[in-house]
Amino acid sequence: MLAGYLYLIASICFIMALRGLSSPTSARRGNQIGIVGMVIAIGTTLFVPEGLDYVMVFLAIAIGGGIGTIIALRLPMTSLPQLMAGFHSLVGLAAVCIAFAVLTAPQNYQLGLPGQIPTTSLLEMGLGAIIGAITFTGSLIAFGKLQGILGSNPLVFPMQHRVNILLGVAMLVLLGLFVLSGSWFFLLLLVAVAMVLGLLLILPIGGADMPVVVSMLNSYSGWAACGIGFTLGNLLLIVTGALVGASGAILSYIMCRAMNRSIFNVILGGFGGETVIATATSGQKSHKSGNSDDAAYILQNAGSVIIVPGYGLAVAQAQHAVQEMANHLIKEGVNVRYAVHPVAGRMPGHMNVLLAEANVPYEDVYELDDINRDFAQTDVCLVIGANDVTNPSARTDKSSPIYGMPVLDVEKAQTVLFVKRSMGAGYAGVENPLFFRDNTMMLFGDAKAVAEGIIKALE
Ligand code: TAP
Repeated sequence: MLAGYLYLIASICFIMALRGLSSPTSARRGNQIGIVGMVIAIGTTLFVPEGLDYVMVFLAIAIGGGIGTIIALRLPMTSLPQLMAGFHSLVGLAAVCIAFAVLTAPQNYQLGLPGQIPTTSLLEMGLGAIIGAITFTGSLIAFGKLQGILGSNPLVFPMQHRVNILLGVAMLVLLGLFVLSGSWFFLLLLVAVAMVLGLLLILPIGGADMPVVVSMLNSYSGWAACGIGFTLGNLLLIVTGALVGASGAILSYIMCRAMNRSIFNVILGGFGGETVIATATSGQKSHKSGNSDDAAYILQNAGSVIIVPGYGLAVAQAQHAVQEMANHLIKEGVNVRYAVHPVAGRMPGHMNVLLAEANVPYEDVYELDDINRDFAQTDVCLVIGANDVTNPSARTDKSSPIYGMPVLDVEKAQTVLFVKRSMGAGYAGVENPLFFRDNTMMLFGDAKAVAEGIIKALE
């Protein structure tokens, strides 16, 4: 009874935390409320039920917590998306393991003796195991693609959708057989088929579409946790899993709209499958390049500047130098604003977090829809470590993997300055024709070093 009330309080904390996280101004408070909820949840789970094997529990916490702490301390911020994908895979695996544990010893979970588990519980276990298995292998593939182990190109094969449908039907038949028989063998087969389906759903998704996949897998991991909650009869897991599942699904929907993709294609997988694999080929086209002094001169003489940050800003950790540079320009009377694309960087809100860390005022940061029309009236657009999110071939080239994704119309500014280290492509592996335009000047170098060079020239 007491545990139920405490779990309810923890659930309310999690709901308030999600509410807080919906805006940069309330995000910190949201995180604090979430921490309070988690402390209540862990405390209740540890101290309210009777007969817990505390040695095992604390050993598990020490091992898991130890590994988690080491990873979190060592991992660079830029690798956060693959870490998330890795962690989602563990949630999926946990759902599968729990289904097997409950089937082996149901008496430990108040579900009767082996062979006498109620049908509804078998259905919950089967569904939890399916979602868990799909999440497990799908997240491993997402991890491999984001980490660069598998390459970001879509892996397509003939009759892929038919194979997926066949696997889906096989899964439903096996689920029915498992629920009717409660047999280990059918659960094993069910998990194996779901794991293969997880692989096949994510392998064909390429390049620029990975952000939607990561948030979709986040949602799947939530539903897997929710399924575990039903199996274990744990109210908090059900509520928390449903919160993660629903918020992940809403985020996926928002990302799909931002990327101009269909949510159904994402859920069914393979929406990158129709695309032609693109490569970056700069050929013999010519481009203009300059240095920090040139850039400082152009920026100083501009009336309005829009800064477009991208993944390279995160790699170089250039946010503080960029903010200092912007302050110099503002002091000289230049109108400076920031334009953030919804999938710039490698995780949702990546650029907003970096800019907030450098104390860039929230009111100077604009979303794509709010600023795209202003580029045409802007003197200089300074693109810092961004590439795909500015690539106009997303509008024109049907064979491009980023075709259909709305992009920032940076080329409409009078002058475009691109800060990056080479003529190389971005995440989607597509050449950016803007590099060769007359109103573009390339500023080659590490984003932080270039920004510091501009500051020096402005002083
Ligand atoms: P990208 O298209 O990946 O381009 C980043 C550019 O930064 C690269 O072309 C790179 O060029 C440059 N760069 C790297 N390190 C740098 C450094 N130290 N200093 C200066 N420049 C550096 O980035 P974007 O425009 O932000 O687009 C994001 C892409 O990632 C999209 O395709 C998106 O779909 C995908 N993605 C996004 C997410 C989320 S949720 N945001 C998740 C997964 C994938 P050089 O190598 O020449 O320097």
